[in-house]
Amino acid sequence: MKTIVITGSTSGIGNALVRALCQENIVFAGYRKTGQNIDLKKLSDNIIPFFIDMENKTSIKLAVNYIKSKTSRVDALFNIAGCVVAGAVEQLDVDDIRKQFEVNTFSHLDFSKQLLDLLDGGRIINISSMSSFGIFPFISPYCASKRALDILFNSMLLETYRNIKIVSVKPGVIATPIWEKSIEQNSQSIELNGDFEKEMKYLVANAHKNSKKGLPVEKVVQLLLKILEAENPKSSYTIGKDAKFAEIFSKLPQDLLNSAIKFTLAKRIQD
Ligand SMILES: NC(=O)c1ccc[n+]([C@@H]2O[C@H](COP(=O)([O-])OP(=O)(O)OC[C@H]3O[C@@H](n4cnc5c(N)ncnc54)[C@H](OP(=O)(O)O)[C@@H]3O)[C@@H](O)[C@H]2O)c1
Repeated sequence: MKTIVITGSTSGIGNALVRALCQENIVFAGYRKTGQNIDLKKLSDNIIPFFIDMENKTSIKLAVNYIKSKTSRVDALFNIAGCVVAGAVEQLDVDDIRKQFEVNTFSHLDFSKQLLDLLDGGRIINISSMSSFGIFPFISPYCASKRALDILFNSMLLETYRNIKIVSVKPGVIATPIWEKSIEQNSQSIELNGDFEKEMKYLVANAHKNSKKGLPVEKVVQLLLKILEAENPKSSYTIGKDAKFAEIFSKLPQDLLNSAIKFTLAKRIQD
């Protein structure tokens, strides 16, 4: 029986992972809304829900204290909570970009750092994204937050004397509620679109499509379970044909890459 900590466990990838792990492991499952703890508890007695708001430093500290009060060892920490801030960089409020980094990057670093002593011999598995390859205009805060997550954690892996494995998982499009949520959360950027009406329309249509046509969450869960059990996991995994393509594509020289992205975007917006 392993002891596992998962943030973002109330929806999408995180929730599917909790369900896959909770029969045979102790799972600390992070939630942020009233009632979600009751839903999590109904899944199994092995689940210990803990409140965590990734935008709030005090909440992160309290979550750490709570976990430490219940266990002295964590075998695996899955950093999964995340959201998407979308819009044209010239129109986005910098505070919204800050929020994107708070939720997708800084909170995970803060939480993980405070749990390091419990993770000796264990592993940290981050859900990054193919967006970390940095080639998606109009969701650049999201891309930048995932890239920063990967750089900071990979640096920790290189620097540390601790016996901790750190892994970045970069999925392509997965069919989860994040897509519909992103439309709602970015409604201001979408409505106050200035010169970018066509681009925002495309973004919304694409989000609807992705929420249905993305890879099923079970595929990601299978990979996460494999990483959990692997004796020597790699430091980075991509999952999905789109993610593998993005990885290769991102290696093109910047100007060539930019021309290809502009061409593809212009074509898609017209279709
Ligand atoms: N779906 C994809 O195509 C895709 C692709 C690549 C990477 N990812 C990454 O995979 C991870 C999981 O995403 P998903 O697709 O499963 O999305 P999801 O269904 O929306 O799940 C996101 C989870 O994060 C939680 N969360 C969001 N903001 C939070 C905050 N401020 N404090 C605490 N918890 C918060 C959500 O809580 P609530 O239930 O309360 O909203 C939910 O449990 C994210 O990091 C995402 O960037 C997703």
